[in-house]
Amino acid sequence: MGCRAIEIPGHGQPPEVVERDEPERAAGESIVRLRAAGINPVDLAIASGRFYLPVPPPPYVAGAEAVGEIVESDALPVGTRVWCLVRTGAFAELFVAPDTALVEVPEGPSDAQAVAAGIAGLAGWMATTMRGACGRGDHVLVLGARGVVGRVALAAARAREAARVVGVVRSPGDGAAAAEAGADSWVTSEPEHLEDRIAEAMEGTTDLVIDTLWGEPGRAALRSLGLRGRLVQVGNAASATVELPAGPLRGGRLDIRGFSIFNEDPADIRAAFGELCALMAARGVALDIEEVPLDDAPEAWRRQQRGTGGVKLVLVP
Ligand SMILES: NC(=O)c1ccc[n+]([C@@H]2O[C@H](COP(=O)([O-])OP(=O)(O)OC[C@H]3O[C@@H](n4cnc5c(N)ncnc54)[C@H](OP(=O)(O)O)[C@@H]3O)[C@@H](O)[C@H]2O)c1
Repeated sequence: MGCRAIEIPGHGQPPEVVERDEPERAAGESIVRLRAAGINPVDLAIASGRFYLPVPPPPYVAGAEAVGEIVESDALPVGTRVWCLVRTGAFAELFVAPDTALVEVPEGPSDAQAVAAGIAGLAGWMATTMRGACGRGDHVLVLGARGVVGRVALAAARAREAARVVGVVRSPGDGAAAAEAGADSWVTSEPEHLEDRIAEAMEGTTDLVIDTLWGEPGRAALRSLGLRGRLVQVGNAASATVELPAGPLRGGRLDIRGFSIFNEDPADIRAAFGELCALMAARGVALDIEEVPLDDAPEAWRRQQRGTGGVKLVLVP
C-alpha cells in the first residue's frame, strides 16, 4: 500500500505530489494519519537550503507540522488526535513522528484551527506571553500584524491585559484585520517617519515588541522601546539584517530575545498549545484559515511564496 506525500526534489525546486511506501516506525516513534497540515514560511526556508537548523537533504517529504490521529504508537492510544512538530515529513497521508513531538489536541478547535495553533500560533502566543513576559498594563507593539503569528500575538497581548496594543502592517488595507485581532491602532511599515509614527501610536512608551519582520521596521521598533524594554525576535520577513546603533541598547538596558519554536521547552509547548486552543475555542483569536486539498499543495506552496495576505493555508487529505 502506498501513501501520497509532498516531496521536495531539490533545493529551490517546487514540491511534487508523489506516491511513497507506507512508513515504518522505530522504537520511540509513532505513525500518524494526516488530518490537517499547516504550510508555514519555515517549510519554504527549509526547501531553499538556507534554514538555520539541521534538516535532511533532498529529496525529502516537506512539512514541519500536522494534526493527525495515532495509527501505531507505544506512547498514546490509537485514534488519539495529536499535533506534531517534526521539522520535515508531515505532508504525507501517513507519517512518522517521534513520541516526544506528540501533543494531544484538546476538544474544541477543528483540525485546521489546531494546526493554526501550532507553529504560527505558538510563535505568536509563546513569544508574547512566555519569552516576552507580557504583563498587565504593558504597551505592546507587534510587527507583521496582518500575518498569522502577528494576529495571535495581538490576541495574546490582549489576553494578558496589555494596556496599549499596536500593530505594524504593510498597507492601510491590512489595518482592519489588525484591529479585529486586537490592535488599538496600527501604522504602516514604509520607512518614512516610521519611528515618529510608532511613537505617536504607542502613546508614550513601548515595553514589548514582537518582531516578525526585522529590517527597518525592527530597527524603528527598537528605537521606540522604553527603559528595560524587550524585543522578541521571531522572524525576518522584511530583511535578514539590520544596522543598529549600540548606544540606545546600552542606555535603555534593552533586551533582544530570540525565539524559535524548534528550540522551546517541550513542556512549555504543551502548556502553551492547550492555552491557545482554549482561547481559540472561546473565539478569542481572529484568524482566516483556508483548507486546500493535499493534491493542490504545489499551488498552495506558490501562494505561500507570494504571500497569502494573512490567510493560514492548511492542507487536508
Ligand atoms: N521563530 C519561530 O519559531 C517562528 C515560528 C513561526 C513563524 N516565524 C516567522 O514569523 C514570520 C511570520 O510568520 P507567519 O506565519 O505569520 O507568516 P505570514 O502569515 O505570511 O505573515 C507575514 C506577514 O508579514 C507581512 N510582511 C512581510 N514583509 C513586510 C514588511 N516589509 N512590512 C510589513 N509587513 C510585512 C506580510 O504581509 P504580505 O502578506 O503583504 O506580504 C504578512 O502579513 C515569518 O518570517 C516566519 O518565518 C517564526
